[in-house]
Amino acid sequence: MEINLEEVSVEFDRGHSFKRKALTGVGIVLMEQEATALIGPTGSGKSTLLRVIAGLLKPTSGRVKISKKSGPIVLSIQEPHRGFFAATVWEEVQFGPENQGLSSAEISARVEWALAAVELPVEKWEVPPFLLSGGEQRRVALASAIAMKPRFLLLDEPTIGLDRTGKESLVILLKKIRSETKMGLLIASHEPNFLYAITNRVLLLEQGVLRADTTWGLLAARFQPFAELGLELPLLLSVLLQLKAEGAQVNPEQNMETEALKELRQFLRKEREGVEGP
Ligand SMILES: Nc1ncnc2c1ncn2[C@@H]1O[C@H](COP(=O)(O)OP(=O)(O)OP(=O)(O)O)[C@@H](O)[C@H]1O
Ligand SMILES: [Mg+2]
Repeated sequence: MEINLEEVSVEFDRGHSFKRKALTGVGIVLMEQEATALIGPTGSGKSTLLRVIAGLLKPTSGRVKISKKSGPIVLSIQEPHRGFFAATVWEEVQFGPENQGLSSAEISARVEWALAAVELPVEKWEVPPFLLSGGEQRRVALASAIAMKPRFLLLDEPTIGLDRTGKESLVILLKKIRSETKMGLLIASHEPNFLYAITNRVLLLEQGVLRADTTWGLLAARFQPFAELGLELPLLLSVLLQLKAEGAQVNPEQNMETEALKELRQFLRKEREGVEGP
């Protein structure tokens, strides 16, 4: 166990006697090195849950237990560029490790590693962060987070404001960072295709209640009740489900994007062989 939420509830006091429950009795165990998706309609409590896990918001009731190990839990929020304050990119990324009490050699090594990992060109390391493009600013924000070598990185809507290429390179980046550091990931997003490329476990919130703690494969198999929430499956899983509904011999219960793609390829190959005949 790495992070353990027990019966976590959050109520926001909006003055008068009106209270709004953002989370109700949420129980989750997050294991080391896991990559998990956090999905649910707008206002379902995703950002609130991330803030509770990051320790930025105290639950109204319930407990958050975090195992005693090295490495912080870091939350990277939507529109991170709004939080830039340093004069240069380097100083911006340096801020986190500096506050971890590391030696200056270690701090420099961390900053260099993080900026290289997010593939920000070296000539941009000494410029003010606000002079960068939106996509470059997101890279700086991500570098700031990973420079702290978090054991868990929490991302809130990381694809907002990114074009398709931006999203694709974020997927590649996150995969690379994970293979280098083994950091756990919990990502809240409205983009199932993006999430499916990186995660295999799925947490589904609806009005502050944890409706499912499952895998992409099982979510696909039992998706009907969730479709009513306006949620979408990853395209690959939708295609596999549709083919199965039409009587094709395919298994839509694929926890990983790479496996789903393999399943689809296999189906297409069989189809071709069927048409061409032996
Ligand atoms: N600081 C706050 N004060 C009062 N109510 C809040 C506060 N933060 C969130 N809420 C309420 O709590 C509920 C959950 O909000 P939250 O931001 O966690 O949802 P979300 O799932 O992240 O939504 P989205 O997909 O739109 O980002 C909403 O009803 C929201 O209005
Ligand atoms: Mg949110």
